[in-house]
Amino acid sequence: MPIHPAEPFRIKSVEPIKLVSKEERIQAMKNAGYNLFAVPAEDVYIDLLTDSGTGAMSQNQWAAIMQGDESYAGARSYYRLKAVMEKIFGFKYFVPTHQGRAAENILASIMIKPGTYVPSNMHFDTTDANIRAQGGSPENLVIDDAFDIEKYVPFKGNMDLVKLEQFINEKGVENIPFGAITITNNAGGGQPISLENIKAVSKIYRKYKIPFFIDSCRFAENCYFIKMREKGYASHTPLEIAQEIFSYADGAWMSAKKDAIVNIGGFLALNDEKLFQEVSNALILREGFPTYGGLAGRDLEALATGLFEGLEEDYLAYRINQTAYVAEKIKEIGIPIIEPPGGHAIYIDAGTMLPHIPQSEFPGQALTAALYLVGGIRGVEIGSVMFAHPDPETGEMVYPKLELVRLAIPRRVYTQSHMDYVVNVLKKIYEQRVSFRGYKLTYSPDLLRHFTARFKPL
Ligand SMILES: Cc1ncc(COP(=O)(O)O)c(C=O)c1O
Repeated sequence: MPIHPAEPFRIKSVEPIKLVSKEERIQAMKNAGYNLFAVPAEDVYIDLLTDSGTGAMSQNQWAAIMQGDESYAGARSYYRLKAVMEKIFGFKYFVPTHQGRAAENILASIMIKPGTYVPSNMHFDTTDANIRAQGGSPENLVIDDAFDIEKYVPFKGNMDLVKLEQFINEKGVENIPFGAITITNNAGGGQPISLENIKAVSKIYRKYKIPFFIDSCRFAENCYFIKMREKGYASHTPLEIAQEIFSYADGAWMSAKKDAIVNIGGFLALNDEKLFQEVSNALILREGFPTYGGLAGRDLEALATGLFEGLEEDYLAYRINQTAYVAEKIKEIGIPIIEPPGGHAIYIDAGTMLPHIPQSEFPGQALTAALYLVGGIRGVEIGSVMFAHPDPETGEMVYPKLELVRLAIPRRVYTQSHMDYVVNVLKKIYEQRVSFRGYKLTYSPDLLRHFTARFKPL
């Protein structure tokens, strides 16, 4: 029987939540055009939409907030964060940003020219969109095993090294302004990447003199997986593993709303001085002066404190094992999920769970709607709503390989009974699964359509 890990914290402040009535949930969905992003959070009971910015800050983070220096330039809080950045990531330069996509946007707008390519294991949706917005093409070169839902592979987020080298040779080094890797691989199930793979990817990028950037939102969770699963790292601390990972890269960006356990924040870090100057100029235009980015001094303090807390071993053990607990319970029902579970979320294989709903009718959307209507739970579709797009040459719809629903677990927020409630709702849905129908899009913007799309039930 799966065992929920005991939390390495106790609760000091509570936020009431409520399951609104079935009628209210039906009305909320109608008002939202059946898009969970448009449902007011007050009408959601257990919110597993994202682990981004939804974590509970610690007493030390709240205390640090009181020490925020709100000076426009050169604030004390900036220097405190700078010291933490140097210790963990070790890059020569960094700028704070208000969140991850701001860093992506600045990097993409400077480095990407129309017709160029950016390889990665898998780009997340905001990275994908930021590259496309500049006329570039994001390319996902994750190992094939990543698409074998049931197969246990310890590092299922690894890049396919053969594909990467072939891709570079096919497209030409001059057409690849930078290469990336996402740790952990959110778009592919929150799966970790081994240090061996990161090292090998770095070697290839360096061989071709392609700058190597790491999308490091969940770097601490990735470090813990390396410690648990990779030979030779059991006695390393997550911090030591992080230091080694980033030593192989030329830069990194991070949505600090994940593993730094803050509600807002991010950064772009790098070694190249000329690029740093360009980044600083772009930052001033869009985010703010380079010592605060889009953040307040107090946010920089919370971030500096949270970066270390996210690397604490007892916290990471609890975090990873809470996710594993939920995964085991869901599997016991018979619901297919991506195996092994990732760090921050459970990814349900909605395509397999609802085989009577074709990709064109969005099985993942059908499951997210059911979760809310049956139990007031909010998850997110990671399938055709998020990723299907017309082929630029033929105009034909290109569907993603997987139709997933992600249940992301906010950090230090929900207890075992909340998780058991989620499992019970899923059990009810599973028992009635043949009764659920697909959806039709009634509105859809060109980029990042899942945020604002509207639907009609079929
Ligand atoms: C892997 C990855 N990269 C980038 C981002 C974008 O970060 P933000 O939401 O802070 O803009 C996210 C957010 O979920 C992510 O998971």
